[in-house]
Amino acid sequence: MKYIDFEYNINNDFDIDIWSKKATRAYTDLHAINREKMNGWLDIEKIIKNEDIEIIKNLANEVKENAEVLIVVGIGGSFLGAKAGIDFLSDYYNFDKKIEIIFVGNSLSEKYLMDTIKYVEDKNVYINVISKSGGTMEPAIAFRVFKNLLEKKYGDKAKERIIVTTTKGKGLLYEIAKKNNYRKLFIPENIGGRYSVLTTVGIFPIACAGFNVKKILEAAKEMQEDLLDLNFKKNIALQYAALRNYLYSTGKDIEVFSSFTPNMRYFLEWLKQLYGESECKQNMGIFPASLIFSTDLHSMGQLMQEGKRNIFETFVSINKENVENNLYLEEDKDDIDKLNYLINNNINEINKIAKNGTKKAHLEGQVPIIEIKIEKQDEKTLGAMFYFFQYSCAISGYILGVDPFNQPGVEKYKSEIKRLLEKK
Ligand code: PA5
Repeated sequence: MKYIDFEYNINNDFDIDIWSKKATRAYTDLHAINREKMNGWLDIEKIIKNEDIEIIKNLANEVKENAEVLIVVGIGGSFLGAKAGIDFLSDYYNFDKKIEIIFVGNSLSEKYLMDTIKYVEDKNVYINVISKSGGTMEPAIAFRVFKNLLEKKYGDKAKERIIVTTTKGKGLLYEIAKKNNYRKLFIPENIGGRYSVLTTVGIFPIACAGFNVKKILEAAKEMQEDLLDLNFKKNIALQYAALRNYLYSTGKDIEVFSSFTPNMRYFLEWLKQLYGESECKQNMGIFPASLIFSTDLHSMGQLMQEGKRNIFETFVSINKENVENNLYLEEDKDDIDKLNYLINNNINEINKIAKNGTKKAHLEGQVPIIEIKIEKQDEKTLGAMFYFFQYSCAISGYILGVDPFNQPGVEKYKSEIKRLLEKK
């Protein structure tokens, strides 16, 4: 499949006939449910129209011209997708002196808020506050803090620097935006938080970070079309969803997402939210975890190799990281560190060998391995990956027999924390 390759080695009897039938039934469930259910993200062209992309691009250009920092306020699906996408596409350091994107409202750490205030106080700032419901506690608190900061800094002009992403006509945030005349971007009602990265929720911050969002959406659309193919052997989203459920049925109830590329950390965090919140309900579901290698091989590698055998591992591997030139080890005349034998391999090749060695070791340790392989870290690959994982997650939920679009557990904690705060 374009953009993504897929392979697996699960050391086990996976009956393709049985599981392809289950996946096909899930496919029918996903496409059959009506619009009020939350499958609005399925059709990329309906999520964001070309004219919306122009509005987003113009607004992003204004932000880039007038701000050194964009503060993105949001939590869960209103945070992780944008962070995952920006990290995936960015260099590790801000070489190009691009606008800095800072995320707040995803914790209630006083120190984090205070330090962020201190950091942005003397900088030119815009805010993008994102909440579909418009009433989530953590972002609401952070928004009030940073809105006040902007009002102190810019007076009446503060309102020109605040962009609200929320549901049209609903919720407290919409009311605030209307009253203060803030500019607004809307989230379609039939798309839930963790499936919203390809809407204004993820696309606007990613555009502000300087990336080509049109390409992201184009590739997501291409992936959408590819995944309409009901041929199980060709449809890797159906295969991946079926494999996960098969492994779960054999007692593997933890999926570890692994990557050998550090700036994939938040992509894996996004995956954890997507799968955990979509599937883990009614006392069922695979616990999603994530590891970044080599770092975590030296902390969790032991558990992966020899801990309780209830794990399977999904590698998300990049063939070639975003480097202009390859880095080779130079020959050392003394070779005391005994590394001269590596001088003909660049670091990326050595990293790939490390990955293959890790895969082999984990497989020998009875960890079934799935691998999602991408060629590079660019906008098109990112769009395709976002769509691929959302799609396979929804299919996977239907195979398991849960509604992948609700989150009663999250709502429970939200109302409990609100009740306690109100009591106080
Ligand atoms: O996937 C979900 O629905 C949740 O994780 C939400 O994104 C999260 O709770 C934030 O909600 P809201 O955007 O309404 O503030």
